[in-house]
Amino acid sequence: VRSQKTVDITKFGAKPNADATQGLLGAWKEACAAKAPTTIVVPKGTFLLNAVKLMGPCKSPITIEVRGNFKAPPQVAQFKGQDTWVKFENIKGLTVNGVSGGGTFDGQGKSAWKQNDCAKLIYFRYSHLIWFNFVTNSKVIGLTSKDSKIFHFALLGCKHLEMTDITITAPADSPNTDGIHIGRSEFIIIRGFTIGTGDDCVSFGDGAKSVIVENVTCGPGHGISVGSLGRYPNEEPVSNITVRHCTIKDTDNGVRVKTWHNSYPSSVDGLHFENITVENVRNPVIVDQEYCPYNHCKEKVELADIDLKYTGNDGPAVSMCKFVKPSLVGTQNPPACDAPATPVVEL
Ligand SMILES: *[C@@H]1O[C@H](CO)[C@@H](O)[C@H](O)[C@H]1NC(C)=O
Ligand SMILES: *[C@@H]1O[C@H](CO)[C@@H](O)[C@H](O)[C@H]1NC(C)=O
Ligand SMILES: *[C@@H]1O[C@H](CO)[C@@H](O)[C@H](O)[C@H]1NC(C)=O
Repeated sequence: VRSQKTVDITKFGAKPNADATQGLLGAWKEACAAKAPTTIVVPKGTFLLNAVKLMGPCKSPITIEVRGNFKAPPQVAQFKGQDTWVKFENIKGLTVNGVSGGGTFDGQGKSAWKQNDCAKLIYFRYSHLIWFNFVTNSKVIGLTSKDSKIFHFALLGCKHLEMTDITITAPADSPNTDGIHIGRSEFIIIRGFTIGTGDDCVSFGDGAKSVIVENVTCGPGHGISVGSLGRYPNEEPVSNITVRHCTIKDTDNGVRVKTWHNSYPSSVDGLHFENITVENVRNPVIVDQEYCPYNHCKEKVELADIDLKYTGNDGPAVSMCKFVKPSLVGTQNPPACDAPATPVVEL
């Protein structure tokens, strides 16, 4: 149902095939200040859009009816230090609705992917395509996210947010293009997504609570993941997560829980994975508690200043290492990890 009051972005100077940033911001400002619920209309056509923050609090609920499509600046430099392409922040009662074949957000990530070298931990200063930050009692329907530079969608601090009928596409080899990342949010519904991307299809970060993911199709990509957790101190628990009636196809993993090697304490409880069909998936179910991509973790096993002198008749003393490769500091007597790795068991 359309609100009675509507604001068209063309009223603020937006034109197809031209930069619509000021048009969208102008319409947002008017809608956010309006006392009555307001619909912002993005008409048919392709609009170029720079990084924008659509900020609340607003006086009344806002609907954005997206009949047209948006394109991001292709070059990272054009983001001018902003961390997200489209950020919605601190809003209650938002509806974003892709209609009439529109609603595509094209992140034009191709040139950025080449610069994003995970192995060297070089990430962009901005992170996500569309970020919902402290958005509550809201709905997102019928959007398409294409070729994001990093994550397609990310949620932080959201409550009672329902996202339905969303299509996410990026090539299988595009780095770090997670479909949707849910962190520190609760009462979230993700329904009817079709996700083909280069990284996790859905990922749950710390503090994800009471989330339902259903009727989602994943592939290509890395599957549905809880984590990675435990990389930082004081992470919030992940709890009450239901993933059901989903199909995962042509991916590395099906459903996965991953915690970092040598992780800080973290907790996960109430995970329900039900009726998941996997097809051509290398690891259908995987719990990995030694997650360590690109070997960027500290082994933290050190053998330092060992000086053991054996004085009996069965010597000499030996040092054996199993499943570890410690770093060695100072004296090592006997020589560290010198004995065969298979323990000799004598009964
Ligand atoms: C599942 O999602 C697809 C894609 O959005 C949709 O076409 C279909 O109607 C949904 N099915 C159910 C049972 O919700
Ligand atoms: C678990 O999550 C579901 C779905 O969001 C919610 O309805 C239910 O109240 C939650 N249960 C608890 C104990 O939080
Ligand atoms: C299992 O999920 C599929 C969608 O992937 C759905 O069509 C089917 O009805 C579900 N079956 C049950 C028993 O819920």
